[in-house]
Amino acid sequence: MSFPLGSLSLLKLVSTFFIFLSFSLLPSAFASPIPNPIVFDIKHNITYLGITSSPGVEKFLNIPYGLSTAGSRRFASPEPAYLPSGTIYNATVPGPVCPQTTVPGFPWFSNLTEGDLSEDCLRLKVARPVGTKEEDELPVFVWVYGGGLFNGHINGRTNEPDALILESVANGLPVIFVAMNYRLNIFGFALSEALRETNDLNVGLKDQRLVLEWVKENIGSFGGSPDKVTIFGQSSGALSVTLQILAYGRTKGAPFHSAIMESVRDRAMARVRKEARTRPSTLGGNYGVDSATEQVAKYNV
Ligand SMILES: *[C@@H]1O[C@H](CO)[C@@H](O)[C@H](O)[C@H]1NC(C)=O
Ligand SMILES: *[C@@H]1O[C@H](CO)[C@@H](O)[C@H](O)[C@H]1NC(C)=O
Ligand SMILES: *[C@@H]1O[C@H](CO)[C@@H](O)[C@H](O)[C@H]1NC(C)=O
Repeated sequence: MSFPLGSLSLLKLVSTFFIFLSFSLLPSAFASPIPNPIVFDIKHNITYLGITSSPGVEKFLNIPYGLSTAGSRRFASPEPAYLPSGTIYNATVPGPVCPQTTVPGFPWFSNLTEGDLSEDCLRLKVARPVGTKEEDELPVFVWVYGGGLFNGHINGRTNEPDALILESVANGLPVIFVAMNYRLNIFGFALSEALRETNDLNVGLKDQRLVLEWVKENIGSFGGSPDKVTIFGQSSGALSVTLQILAYGRTKGAPFHSAIMESVRDRAMARVRKEARTRPSTLGGNYGVDSATEQVAKYNV
């Protein structure tokens, strides 16, 4: 049986009304928790359960985009992670972040403990206006955090996109937001001739790149348009954005359409190199590396 488009939408409207009705008739004890927002990725047969983080904003946390970087994949270019068909993914809780210092930073930062760190950290999150539908095809903003390429993660309270999303809705130009963990310090930017030979330099930047590929492949299910992707970043995140524009001598095209760099100075590369040499330890003893010099977060492009 086929419906003309008009009656199909009418059918949708009517069924939405009945769903609404049945919810509103539930006893309040059942109706009170806000239901998890759900995204169904029909292409890969994956269901994501998210959270409503603040009124008007839905988030899907801790989505894996790359395999664990522990063991033989340490220092190596990231490999994509694929959730198996049929997965119902619980995206309601934040996940691990990439190895970095746990020394508290600015007072307004969320502080980390050792338990938050893992080399299985290639996770991203998606945030969007509440009720976004797959057919909305919203512009996508992909955020690259700053932190000198030494620290930073997607669970910090200073990087939450709620206000950005609410303002985009208020402006009548709603956007969908993606942010990724990417490898830092020696794990993301180790420099050695051995890594040059295997083409594994700057893997932190390659992590970011892999997320842009993930966005192209998956953001449609979340209501984003893979044809309207803006990357933006602050400080070393902005430096990263610059490098993503210039990557591969621009021979491979760019998996995004526009870019915003926030608070990065020119000659930032030189600054990153200098800081790599002069900063105190950011790793502690856990990984057998004691000083920033040993972290060799030297940044050669
Ligand atoms: C999707 O996953 C469910 C749950 O495992 C399974 O029952 C169903 O057959 C799958 N559908 C497709 C099209 O693979
Ligand atoms: C998701 O995981 C969290 C933490 O383990 C748990 O509290 C919550 O009940 C889970 N949610 C669903 C829908 O399974
Ligand atoms: C993180 O630690 C700093 C320094 O101890 C403290 O000022 C700040 O309030 C902490 N942040 C949070 C979110 O607790």
